[in-house]
Amino acid sequence: MSNRATFATRMGAIAATVGSAVGLGNIWRFPYEAGQNGGGAFMLIYLACVVLMGIPVMVAEFVIGRSTHRNVCGALRQLSPGGKAHWFGYIGITASLMILSFYSVVCGWIVEYLVMACGGRLHGLNPDEYGTMFATFVTHPWRPVLWTVLFLLLNHLVLRRGLKRGIERVSNLLMPLLFVILVIFCIHSLLLPGAGEAVTFLMAPRLDDVTPAVALKAMGQAFFSLSLGLSCLLTYASYFKNSDSLTRNATVIALLDTLVAVLAGLMIFPAVFSHGMEPQAGPKLIFEVLPLIFNQMHLGVMWAVLLFLLLFLASITSTISMSEISIAFLTEEHNLSREAATAVNTGIAVVFGTLCALSFGPLSDLTICGKTLFDLFDFVSSNVLLPLGGIFFAVFVGWYLDRRLVRAQLGRGPVVTIVVFCMRYVAPLAIAAVFIYGLL
Ligand code: PFF
Repeated sequence: MSNRATFATRMGAIAATVGSAVGLGNIWRFPYEAGQNGGGAFMLIYLACVVLMGIPVMVAEFVIGRSTHRNVCGALRQLSPGGKAHWFGYIGITASLMILSFYSVVCGWIVEYLVMACGGRLHGLNPDEYGTMFATFVTHPWRPVLWTVLFLLLNHLVLRRGLKRGIERVSNLLMPLLFVILVIFCIHSLLLPGAGEAVTFLMAPRLDDVTPAVALKAMGQAFFSLSLGLSCLLTYASYFKNSDSLTRNATVIALLDTLVAVLAGLMIFPAVFSHGMEPQAGPKLIFEVLPLIFNQMHLGVMWAVLLFLLLFLASITSTISMSEISIAFLTEEHNLSREAATAVNTGIAVVFGTLCALSFGPLSDLTICGKTLFDLFDFVSSNVLLPLGGIFFAVFVGWYLDRRLVRAQLGRGPVVTIVVFCMRYVAPLAIAAVFIYGLL
């Protein structure tokens, strides 16, 4: 494995991992999940999940990835020879393909809105008209499919041509810009008349809202947003240098990712309340609210183009990272060429992505357990497979792995002690409890 690439600098390693973590999960999924699950209660549990489960599980994935420098199945086989641990690798690979399928649909929506923003067509309508615009688009028999497939082909090209580093470099340059723009939007939103109500909604938990179902959603969101539990960060850590501090990397990544999600919430909810809209709108929330924000801004068309462009970049760095899981697996475990492995990954995602894209229109009646295919993929991956993967990684590193190996990866110090404590006791028990109560 000595010829395997590593990230050139610590900043490069962090930036690529943040690129994976920061995406539509923060800006599209966080606000709507918070909106549907009680706002403040969701936020409180979310933050607790990031600290008590997110950081420890992330460190566990880092330990496995960096100590072996291999893909998930290879790494688990090396650390547990002859054992069955590598089966958990297959769960991660399945989850990554499910997420890639429905995530690409939303990336497709972003591209459609980017094109509309460039044509100035997102401007000057009222809330109802934006609602109709979105509904007409997502129920269209082929437009959402077209964008989903085009997005996946672009993702394919970037991965196949080895343009990943290029994209990463561009996105590393532009991610700080996304951050600055989010701050500008937040300030603008916080000056709106509904801002007080929005901040209360998002920051003040109402105890009645703290239910097991909300906890399950918040935990699923924390795992999804941090790209945890499916070995994405394990795969990225397999490219880390041995000198990087894993606990420090994990803390910085979790902090930045959470900050972006909170900023997105503070950008969206004041606009929701000031226009008398419903925070429970679901996946369409940002597509109906963002145009209203652009409308009220000076140079709104420019802001619209800029924001959707940056969202597009943020999402492609995330789809690249989730694709890398199965590509690393297929090339290293099954000796497929990178081209062939990428084609398999894209092929599967195109088939299931198409079905997910259609589940808002022609296939909206096709439901399993009352959920459309899009919702089912989202629910099963985020709320079931990722937490299960999280328990496995925490227990595997916390209890099974040789202490000396873990110590060699993490070093010593008070932060390491706390993280390892959470990894061994708090995270597995808390994830299991939320999981069991949430599903009952
Ligand atoms: N964390 C990404 C986001 O918040 O958009 C989504 C994601 C990326 C999930 C990579 C899983 C993954 F492996």
